[in-house]
Amino acid sequence: MADLTAQSGTPDVIVVMGVSGSGKSTVAKGIATTMGWEFAEGDEFHPKANVEKMASGQPLTDEDRWPWLRLIGDWISERVSHGQSAVVACSALRRAYRDLLREGRPQVRFCHVDADAEVIEERMDSREGHYMPASLLASQLATLEGLGEDEPGVVVSNDGSQDDVLVRALRALGLVQEESPSGPTTS
Ligand SMILES: Nc1ncnc2c1ncn2[C@@H]1O[C@H](COP(=O)(O)OP(=O)(O)OP(=O)(O)O)[C@@H](O)[C@H]1O
Ligand SMILES: [Mg+2]
Repeated sequence: MADLTAQSGTPDVIVVMGVSGSGKSTVAKGIATTMGWEFAEGDEFHPKANVEKMASGQPLTDEDRWPWLRLIGDWISERVSHGQSAVVACSALRRAYRDLLREGRPQVRFCHVDADAEVIEERMDSREGHYMPASLLASQLATLEGLGEDEPGVVVSNDGSQDDVLVRALRALGLVQEESPSGPTTS
């Protein structure tokens, strides 16, 4: 993996990626709360047509995704231009999507939340009011391209409690000291 060290004084941007139900939003919100960073939910940048397509159980095409990803990139650029660090939950399943998010934005690195299909299915069955049907999980898993060696980022397993996973992510990203059991240190 590439060097993960954020340069002090410059904004840090984490894109929390993974298939539907892997726990991206949970981890991303946790990072935002712990670090006091700006947060965005990638799903909210989808044009209405995309939301309707997903709700009807149809996978999005890449043509559907480019405008969505560009809007997320714009949001990231806006934060960076204000010197703000930020975290975005965005599936970013394919290398091409991640390359678009990173293009011209060297602050961006990834946190891939990795979970077993059975665990995801179990969690999605108990989740209400969400527009992504569990039937799309298989196609998401088939589409997923793991982080390449040359992509900046970390892979974090979604085993255990939400707190366990958050601490694992913060540590892997170098946002808390290895010694710290439950949160960022002030030293
Ligand atoms: N470590 C965990 N233990 C138990 N439940 C969890 C854990 N992490 C997330 N969940 C639950 O699993 C469900 C999926 O998590 P979350 O919404 O964060 O996933 P997501 O990757 O953002 O999904 P989507 O792509 O559909 O938005 C939620 O109901 C969440 O509360
Ligand atoms: Mg989500």
